[in-house]
Amino acid sequence: MKAVVYQGPFSVSVEEVPDPELKHPNDVIVKITSSCICGSDLHMYEGRTAAEPGIIFGHENMGVVAEVGSAVKSLSVGDRVVMPFNVGCGFCKNCQRGYTGFCVTVNPGFAGGAYGYVAMGPWRGGQAEYLQVPHADFNCLPLPAGDEFESDFALLADIFPTGYHGTELADVSPGESVAVWGAGPVGLMATYSCIIRGAAEVYSIDHVQERLDKASEIGATPINFDDGDPVQQIRDMRGGDGVDKTVDAVGYQAAAQGSSAAGGEQDEIPNVVLNEMIDLINPTGIMGIPGLYVPSDPGGVDEGAKRGALSINFGKLFEKGLKLGTGQCNVKQYNAYLRDLIISGKATPSFVVSHEVPLDDAVDAYDKFDKRIDGYTKVILNP
Ligand SMILES: NC(=O)c1ccc[n+]([C@@H]2O[C@H](COP(=O)([O-])OP(=O)(O)OC[C@H]3O[C@@H](n4cnc5c(N)ncnc54)[C@H](O)[C@@H]3O)[C@@H](O)[C@H]2O)c1
Ligand SMILES: [Zn+2]
Ligand SMILES: [Zn+2]
Repeated sequence: MKAVVYQGPFSVSVEEVPDPELKHPNDVIVKITSSCICGSDLHMYEGRTAAEPGIIFGHENMGVVAEVGSAVKSLSVGDRVVMPFNVGCGFCKNCQRGYTGFCVTVNPGFAGGAYGYVAMGPWRGGQAEYLQVPHADFNCLPLPAGDEFESDFALLADIFPTGYHGTELADVSPGESVAVWGAGPVGLMATYSCIIRGAAEVYSIDHVQERLDKASEIGATPINFDDGDPVQQIRDMRGGDGVDKTVDAVGYQAAAQGSSAAGGEQDEIPNVVLNEMIDLINPTGIMGIPGLYVPSDPGGVDEGAKRGALSINFGKLFEKGLKLGTGQCNVKQYNAYLRDLIISGKATPSFVVSHEVPLDDAVDAYDKFDKRIDGYTKVILNP
């Protein structure tokens, strides 16, 4: 089959690899219909992780069941399914409590597994024609047959639940004011989730104009941080007040004001979003941090950043009595509910999708999405 294979910094190829096989009676093989490129893939693509060449990328996968292991109870050939990017077992101490992003059996020695991702276990990615899905009864979310809502459902693998997770970590509630850093796919989904949850005011901070335009379209107030300190811009709009809640949908590769928007070229300040959040949020607020921070960054801006040690204003955080939540999204906690919002017409997350292209166009799509040019906001590969 064909698959997207990591070759080294700023290089992927589409090449022939062996087909996946049923390795355990609980596995299914899914014929992929949609697999998205994620901002998380860019950390590997840019050589900012320990990823080695040869990884098949793709953790945002949906398709149709093509083969079923003998022990699988709930799925049949032909079923339409979407898989959380997390691989979970369903029976370990963390999966049992709903923390499927921290499964302790699918990636021995580590809490958390995913498809096609460095340090997340042996699971191949789904930017390919077929995918092996372990513990299939647990990991496959059933979808209505047919091809309706394809691009909405594809976002259930990661960014819609992850954006929602940011608002859950921050406990965003009706009538609140929220600032969301990042109007990438995750940030836009967090902004959208704030609106779904009834926030009164949502500020979306970025410096890529097409992305800020999408945030405006769904009812948020866009804040371009290249125009000046975003904290001051928001305070000025609010008569000096801060906000109730904040969400960091940027992570450790945060750009400095005025630097290039292209991921590989920007000047970075890895702690800038964390400190801006502490600065803007009102006392007793809650900060949700789905944006990625890593314990090892080969391209870190200084010695601390290289080992994930960032300087944050903890004194201010304590003085304000703030809370914060971090970590991988436990996609399975939300995906069935978010699916049903899509089916009932109450959520249409596909507004974020800018490009749907064949698998063969993955090389060009990675390049443009990484440079954040030509409106490349969210790309779905259709093998
Ligand atoms: N916790 C999880 O489970 C999970 C899941 C998926 C993605 N992520 C992470 O979420 C983050 C966002 O993912 P994405 O796909 O939207 O990535 P992305 O790279 O497409 O988007 C990030 C956005 O942040 C903007 N940005 C950069 N510096 C900024 C700053 N100083 N202030 C405000 N905005 C700034 C960029 O211009 C870009 O639009 C990444 O770190 C990704 O790894 C986490
Ligand atoms: Zn993703
Ligand atoms: Zn588990």
